[in-house]
Amino acid sequence: MDPSGKRSADVTEIDTYLSENADRFEEELRELLRIPSVSTESRFAGDVQRCAEWMAADMERAGLETVEVIPTDGHPVVYAEHQADVESPTVLIYGHYDVQPTDPDDLWTTPPFEPDVREGRLYARGSTDDKGQLHMHLRALEARLRTGAGVPANVKLVVEGEEEIGSRHLEGFLKENRRRLACDTVMISDTVMLSPELPAITVGLRGLAYAEVTVRGPNRDLHSGQYGGAVQNPANALAAIIAGLKDQYGRVTIPGFYDPVQEMTGDERAQLREIPLDPADLQRDLSVPALVGEAGYSPVEQLWYRPTLDVNGMISGFTGEGAKTVLPAEARAKISMRLVPDQVFEEIQEAFRKHVLALAPEGVTVHVEAHHGAAPWRADPGGPVFEAASAALEEAFGHKPLLICEGGSIPLVPMFERILGAPAVLIGFGLPGSNLHGPDEWLNLEVYHRGIGALASMWGRLAG
Ligand code: BES
Ligand code: ZN
Repeated sequence: MDPSGKRSADVTEIDTYLSENADRFEEELRELLRIPSVSTESRFAGDVQRCAEWMAADMERAGLETVEVIPTDGHPVVYAEHQADVESPTVLIYGHYDVQPTDPDDLWTTPPFEPDVREGRLYARGSTDDKGQLHMHLRALEARLRTGAGVPANVKLVVEGEEEIGSRHLEGFLKENRRRLACDTVMISDTVMLSPELPAITVGLRGLAYAEVTVRGPNRDLHSGQYGGAVQNPANALAAIIAGLKDQYGRVTIPGFYDPVQEMTGDERAQLREIPLDPADLQRDLSVPALVGEAGYSPVEQLWYRPTLDVNGMISGFTGEGAKTVLPAEARAKISMRLVPDQVFEEIQEAFRKHVLALAPEGVTVHVEAHHGAAPWRADPGGPVFEAASAALEEAFGHKPLLICEGGSIPLVPMFERILGAPAVLIGFGLPGSNLHGPDEWLNLEVYHRGIGALASMWGRLAG
């Protein structure tokens, strides 16, 4: 502690500011969550733009300087800075203001863009992923910049609108702005903690390769009695292809798929056993009759250290009410592969394409389109920001943060390291079961406020 007592004076001032403004913070977050910034669907392009402008205004509200909405060939990047001095460390905060689509809408208890608070949870699309977590960072900066406490670091904020579609234009943006974005550490809150009492720092992410398979058969939909049996059915053919992509041991059958995979070390397996995640809780939470996965690995190992392949959507034939006898002309599937070090997503995309074509039965044509991808990532934990964040989380939540991995992907994390040479520190405030990408996504409001306090205190700990 600073002998002058400045630190504790700041802490009191910040705490007072945070409690006096808590209600306004929540109101403003609800305003942000009302903007349907769905990046995938072009009909929302205007809302995505409006959301970028809202973010820019919010950065000004927080007391940041040089706020800019920067156009890209896709959705804009919102950028802002706070300058301390040349000696201070430079931290780049990254987040995304775009959200995933909301369908199926009828499964939401309240509409996805009409934020609703129930039992301490704020329900809305983007509440956790990632608007809520981004909002926390801005409030922590605001609390320091609007009181006398100040932020003893140079801060650069990069907030993008295309994370949920693979950060397509960000690689170019980083390369073009390498000097301007130069930093010592990147800080991101777009992940989860293990429970409201157990904070976490994420030290690994899986990568992603996403593809779409289209199977075409006859030139039109047919009567399934008149033609069924003599004509290859694209939906049956697609099912056969999908069934061939994994074997009975839950392993992906694509040739070469596992060749670059780093096997877990004994140490890593031992560390994972210390993580308080009980497969029985997971099974109960999801109401599934059993957990399945690659033979020889526990569920946590499967999620954090093993690659996998999953159908995300299938489109074919008659899906209306009742029965219609029809043999569809076409069938499509959207398929994701989650990757681990050292798999390279472009190579996996190509191996997938070849394998799908090899699995295709006679009588149909098959087309494979590669969508976006992301590289897998592993951290080398440590450094001043990591230490400051760790201590601040421990103080705020009463428990040392656990080092966890995440089965999901954040394409920018490995890109920042590769292009800017800056390591990333990932502090998540989402919770397991908070329905990211699903209906009824929520944010725990107590964690939200406590997390803002932790982030504000983290900046203080960076001084000196
Ligand atoms: N915030 C998530 C990543 C995540 C997911 C963290 C689950 C913690 C738990 C991120 O916004 C995300 O969903 N990323 C996409 C990236 C993809 C579209 C390239 C993902 O993982 O599907
Ligand atoms: Zn996210």
